[in-house]
Amino acid sequence: MTFSLLSASAHGGGTPAWAMLAYLVAGVFFILALRGLSSPATSRTGNRNGMIGMALAVGTTLVMHGTNLVEIGIAIAIGAILGVTIARRIAMTAMPELVAGFHSLVGLAAVVVGLAAWLNPAAFGITDAAGQIMAVSRIELGLGIAIGAITFSGSVIAFLKLSGRMSGSPIMLPGRHVINLGTLAAILVLIGLYTVSPVGGAGEGWMVIAVTVLAFAIGFLLIIPIGGADMPVVVSMLNSYSGWAAAAMGFTLGNTAMIITGALVGSSGAILSYIMCRAMNRSFISVIAGGFGADASSGGAGGAREQRPYKQGSAEDAAYMLEQAEKVIIIPGYGMAVAQAQHALREMGDKLKEKGVEVKYAIHPVAGRMPGHMNVLLAEASVPYDEVFELEDINSEFAQCDVAFIIGANDVVNPAAKTDKSSPIYGMPVFDVDKAKQVFFIKRSMGGVGYAGVDNDVFYMNQTVMLLADAKKMVEEIVKSLD
Ligand code: TAP
Repeated sequence: MTFSLLSASAHGGGTPAWAMLAYLVAGVFFILALRGLSSPATSRTGNRNGMIGMALAVGTTLVMHGTNLVEIGIAIAIGAILGVTIARRIAMTAMPELVAGFHSLVGLAAVVVGLAAWLNPAAFGITDAAGQIMAVSRIELGLGIAIGAITFSGSVIAFLKLSGRMSGSPIMLPGRHVINLGTLAAILVLIGLYTVSPVGGAGEGWMVIAVTVLAFAIGFLLIIPIGGADMPVVVSMLNSYSGWAAAAMGFTLGNTAMIITGALVGSSGAILSYIMCRAMNRSFISVIAGGFGADASSGGAGGAREQRPYKQGSAEDAAYMLEQAEKVIIIPGYGMAVAQAQHALREMGDKLKEKGVEVKYAIHPVAGRMPGHMNVLLAEASVPYDEVFELEDINSEFAQCDVAFIIGANDVVNPAAKTDKSSPIYGMPVFDVDKAKQVFFIKRSMGGVGYAGVDNDVFYMNQTVMLLADAKKMVEEIVKSLD
């Protein structure tokens, strides 16, 4: 959930009761939005509730402050045109980098609002009788600027890594833990000094500038050591940071809606990060501390690939084996999204069910490139929800299934996660496809690798047949053969 700073208002006096009530109602809509977004079946309603809540919060702020509607209208129109254009053009597979890009803007906005409030505190209503910034506002300002700057630079690095403009491999600086802890401690000490510094005392200015610069640096330092497979957790963590930055600015601006929304984004992002860490078998503390405890030898993309024998099959082979099966488990991954093969896949599932085959879909928590990516695509293709299962609910069933049908997934079925301590995905729970009697594995070529950039023993197993083609084309051919 992204947050609009347009709901920010200048502090200027107490908020009238009607506006407080409107903000409260907006907050309820935001909570309903989060509730709705927890399931694909209710996600549209959730989205709509979020939009109603945001419209109410923005409208209330504009009316309450008698804002110049022409000026603000032009700004909103420019933002809306940019937003709609980007949203229409962006491919579903590029969504995580777009989200990271948007988070960077929220962080930057928090920094800019914080600096504006520092430079012109009277306009923000955060001064005391002597015309100086109040101590509590100094804490809010310092924290808001720091969290915003960390969110900005961290999100820029996440954007560069996710979009492939920067290597996804972890970059481990020597002594990085000492540097990170030292920088964080320096930021906190500076905020403390700024808070208690003599009113109007000399040197106040450099403290704010130093906090801003150090926070930009720490955002960069925290994200560069994070390797490819952990990027999903980082994106949701930055989402959480952007919420806290907005909440801190809400205090500075005296805007209740901003505090509520920021806290909701911050806490829901933190909960999502925690859930994803558990799903990936990663330590939450280790990830938020910037790869703390990560092994410098665990490489990312690349690495030498062995030439090993494998079996290759055709759509007819797959169709024959699939219709003979009693139970088929389908494991979709990023490649299904790239190929947009979900509709053909549903058709294949329907045909198999007509032939009396039991069909289930197995979803890994980090399959694809964003949380819920596969659920959204399968829901779009009208795959019944009761056929879709989470990793922990279905993993034990591979031992009793005739065919594991892997379509565009790779890392999430890689047994190296269970056995190879040097692998970047080591420790991540994966599907036990090696227990299935037969495995069909759709990918375009033997040269391609998954997100973590490592070879996969499943390609070379006795019971595996590689179906090397674009996922959509391959599944369409299987459907034809099933006819
Ligand atoms: P990946 O491991 O990325 O594997 C994708 C597979 O799809 C590759 O084998 C690729 O091989 C194949 N492929 C690509 N385009 C295809 C096409 N048009 N037709 C057929 N196959 C195609 O996918 P996964 O198993 O879903 O794993 C997800 C990975 O992404 C994890 O490492 C995860 O940590 C990371 N990640 C996840 C997220 C979230 S939140 N889900 C966010 C960022 C990163 P070819 O190139 O040979 O076709």
